[in-house]
Amino acid sequence: MNSIRKKISSLLIGLAMSGCVWAQSAQQSKSPWWKGAVFYEIYPRSFQDSNNDGVGDLNGITQRLDYLKLLGVDAIWLTPIYPSPQVDFGYDISNYEDIDPQYGTLKDFDRLVTEAKKHNIRIIMDLVLNHTSDKHPWFLESRSSKTNPKHNWYVWRDGKGPGQPPNNWESYFGHSAWQYDQKTRQYYYHKFYIQQPDLNWNNPEVRKAMYDVERFWINRGVAGFRLDAITTLFEDPQMRDEGVVKDENGKPMTNAYGDPQLDDTRTNDLPQVHDVLRELREVADSYKGRDVVLIGETYLRSVDDLKKMYGAHDDELQLPMDMQIGFINKFDVAQFRQRIDEAQNNINGNEPLIVFDNHDNPRWDRYGGGKFHDDIGRVIATVLFATRGSAMFYYGDEIGMVTTPPKRKEDVKDPIGITGWPKEKGRDGERTPMQWDDGPNAGFTGPNAKPWLPIPPSYKTVNVAAEMKNPDSILNWYKQMIELRRTVPSLRYGNNIMLNTSDNHVLSWMRTAPGQAPVIVACNFTAEPQRISFDLSKQGIVAKQGKTLMKTPGMSDPASLSDVQLPPFGVYMGEVE
Ligand code: NOJ
Repeated sequence: MNSIRKKISSLLIGLAMSGCVWAQSAQQSKSPWWKGAVFYEIYPRSFQDSNNDGVGDLNGITQRLDYLKLLGVDAIWLTPIYPSPQVDFGYDISNYEDIDPQYGTLKDFDRLVTEAKKHNIRIIMDLVLNHTSDKHPWFLESRSSKTNPKHNWYVWRDGKGPGQPPNNWESYFGHSAWQYDQKTRQYYYHKFYIQQPDLNWNNPEVRKAMYDVERFWINRGVAGFRLDAITTLFEDPQMRDEGVVKDENGKPMTNAYGDPQLDDTRTNDLPQVHDVLRELREVADSYKGRDVVLIGETYLRSVDDLKKMYGAHDDELQLPMDMQIGFINKFDVAQFRQRIDEAQNNINGNEPLIVFDNHDNPRWDRYGGGKFHDDIGRVIATVLFATRGSAMFYYGDEIGMVTTPPKRKEDVKDPIGITGWPKEKGRDGERTPMQWDDGPNAGFTGPNAKPWLPIPPSYKTVNVAAEMKNPDSILNWYKQMIELRRTVPSLRYGNNIMLNTSDNHVLSWMRTAPGQAPVIVACNFTAEPQRISFDLSKQGIVAKQGKTLMKTPGMSDPASLSDVQLPPFGVYMGEVE
């Protein structure tokens, strides 16, 4: 690198970006650990089984820490591992302060935390605040009589009349959200399964109990929480009906369960949730120097709603998940550009947390596949890791595991797949066991065990062992991208500026940090080769050459920045010299 040119270009960039760059560099020096971090979601049932019962467990995760270290992740989010009847595979909790025997013991958990720490990996717990299991002692008491002190811990109401629930609210998992209870002759509210009664968050005792749970796990060494269904804690106090959504012809719509499609306005994203978020944050922040992070499951309508989740004074969630970018679900350059830009500019300078898939949604292969499967994966990983923000991905994404839904109703494990079959096949397809090698049961469990979900046939070629050996594998792309984020400061902390903004085929952007070589990125969003010329003049950059950091396998180094030739779904990333 020509050092004079480098100094001039960073000076120009510095001037162009004015104060915000300097503010950013100051911020960078005292950055909390989660800023720019890479989070890896583990569905413990499906990651690694250590005792050959066909169900993954905590000791299995501990055995795989070397792999996670090699991959380069900073933290792992464990979906719920608490004691549970497992109706919703752990999201129905019957005791918040223990571990389900299927997954291990508190001792196993402590060992996981300790061993993970040695690997520089933090543990994030899933905190389910909206509801408990109907087998939780709180609910057993609550339903025992209307005068029980815990009755008011849940949302109970009288029906409108004989056999009539209080209103038209529906469960996300199909049919009425109200369940009649013979003993109390009242209905209880459940936004999810019948076996998941909603807690009453207007009750201060409920709040206190849950803040104690938060403390319990922080005291045990966790680095933060992913807050489940956090936007659904409150319901309209007047219990008004929700509206029915209409299609473009004004016809009322129906959902996959055959029920009217409701607008979700009285049971989701009510303003009262912000008080709770502040209280949860106060507890987290009371652990000085720990930087306990609160991550939100925040499916919201717009970036404006997302912005509110950080709090008016940055005193709520540090990382509400951005579902705007990763769930566009089609390769549309203009939409990606707009939403990435919004995440940079419309959330008060807060940290976006980008995510493409999880245990509730089809994997990234939903963007297309077949011939270009790995290329599409590279594009997704590049948007995820090379734009500014923290990044989260789901186990198996890094090897290109494909969504493999059950073919027959009788094989379905996720109850919504039974209620909604065949329109809604449930979430088994994205929860299949991790594919470690091409041996029996893909190395997930012992050769004679029966995995709780079948191993997808793709495991013969799509597996960790095979991909480790292949430098051009999707796994190696993930690994290298994560490594570059760690080692190239512009990529980890730099500003994010969209480039060539009228191009409808190629998404390109630049990352810049003071005193550092800018990084430019281009992703071809089409199945045809594309050619681009980076226009960096507005950024005051005169460079003609880039030093390649990453490129799609088989692609040649560009002759110059004004002629970058990208193969179908090809990616180029280079440092500006
Ligand atoms: C969101 C979780 O991700 C999902 O798996 C679960 O079924 C619901 N919340 C209810 O807890």
